[in-house]
Amino acid sequence: GFVILDFGSQFTQLIARRLRELGFYSEIHSYKYPTEEIIKKKPYGIILSGGPNSVYEAGSPQRDVAELRNISPLMGVCYGMQLLTHQLGGKVTKAHHREYGFNYVNWSTQIGSVPSKQKVWMSHGDVVEAAPRGFNVIAMSDGQHPAAIQGEGVLALQFHPEVAHTEFGLDILKYFAEDMCKAPADWDAPHIKDVLISDVQKKVGPADHVLVGLSGGVDSTVVATLLTKALGAERVHCVFVDNGLLRKNEFANVLEMYRKIGLNVKGVDASEEFLTALKGKTDPEDKRKTIGRVFIEVFDKSYDHKLPIKWLAQGTLYPDVIESVSSVGGSVTIKSHHNVGGLPEKMKLGLVEPVRELFKDEVRALGAQLGLPHQMLWRHPFPGPGLSIRVLGEITKEKLQIIKEADDIFISELRRAGLYEKIWQAFCVLLPVKTVGVQGDARTYDHVLALRAVTSSDGMTADWYPFEFQFLREVSNLITNKVKGVNRVVYDVTSKPPGTIEWE
Ligand code: XMP
Repeated sequence: GFVILDFGSQFTQLIARRLRELGFYSEIHSYKYPTEEIIKKKPYGIILSGGPNSVYEAGSPQRDVAELRNISPLMGVCYGMQLLTHQLGGKVTKAHHREYGFNYVNWSTQIGSVPSKQKVWMSHGDVVEAAPRGFNVIAMSDGQHPAAIQGEGVLALQFHPEVAHTEFGLDILKYFAEDMCKAPADWDAPHIKDVLISDVQKKVGPADHVLVGLSGGVDSTVVATLLTKALGAERVHCVFVDNGLLRKNEFANVLEMYRKIGLNVKGVDASEEFLTALKGKTDPEDKRKTIGRVFIEVFDKSYDHKLPIKWLAQGTLYPDVIESVSSVGGSVTIKSHHNVGGLPEKMKLGLVEPVRELFKDEVRALGAQLGLPHQMLWRHPFPGPGLSIRVLGEITKEKLQIIKEADDIFISELRRAGLYEKIWQAFCVLLPVKTVGVQGDARTYDHVLALRAVTSSDGMTADWYPFEFQFLREVSNLITNKVKGVNRVVYDVTSKPPGTIEWE
């Protein structure tokens, strides 16, 4: 496979993901990963990721590039390009004008099937002013900076080929993997199911039982189904907690679906406990932490402690794993997504994480192999803290009621219009703002509700969905007519970045 060295970019994991799409296994390691370990892996190629630092600043993450060049072909992306330029004798400086977002680059050398002019996604403040000796500048940006350089066994790019918004990004990676590294395809998604089932059977002892927390989402459902296939339903105890922050009718509907697909599941209604703990809390991170804490308490009480439970299964995905290995100080936590951290330590259970090598789309494919219904696998992602981060500010039962009704209308209309699966995630946000309206000849003073719908392939970057005006008009009418407490509806037209998908 390939070795990707992480210098702290938000996009590092996407490099691995794209390589897999092309049929190549890859592993992400810290930029400090020892050279001997890399040599042992006999990589087809090594990729240096982007990162937030300036390569010429003291304390920026460094690594001997010449040494890596002796192991295999090398690719540098953004910071990776600057690092190898800096180390191999070229020059990196601050850009006069920074290039963020879309840009065009013009190739002067043919790279696989990539056209000579293309749109790319960039995010950098530094540029290569002079390429190292023996390197050619093979593409320039519209801003007249070197966008790609090539030397013997080395390709370096100023833009990000791994993000979905760069055109022909896959072709560029393919050129590196196939033409420069001569890598044979070694990642075979269709056979993952059998491999994972036998891994679980090897890891979990023949008398051991396993506990699984279900969220209603794709990942935990796939994990529970996989374990049930591997170990039998009697040994796999699933718990589905109602935290009072789920969508309208979600708890009952999802519980029924779990039973239908044959999971051994217990539903626990803990909505009062969560709402009580959230009382008076307005800060988003505070809300997340509170929910995480109450979840652990509830979960701990939810199963029979006399059972020989030795393991806790989690739907950890590869992106979560990488987040926790990244050792570059520069990358910042934008939101803390890990709602159940600390759980296994407290419960003294071993961890089973059968999908920790997979990305979301691979988990969906695995779910399909396991026979899970299409509608289950193609649900929009739903955050662990649920509606609590979509009711901005303090959460009350009344506000939850409003958002549940509005969300139900929005999602039903999306399904009716055949748009649900074209959209990565769609939801309502209840704003802590009231405005004046007029409804039925009377003055009202009620909440503003924002609609959010984004396309994305991974949740890392996202764009708002361009609905037809007529669709927005209908949804807005339905919501203001049917949902008491809302007299104004707005549509969020912010991409990520600079916004995030959720509002909190
Ligand atoms: P943002 O808002 O950071 O979200 O652009 C990216 C993706 O993550 C989901 N999200 C969460 N998921 N716990 C979760 O399990 C959280 O605290 C959380 N916050 C955001 C979000 O819905 C989107 O899919």
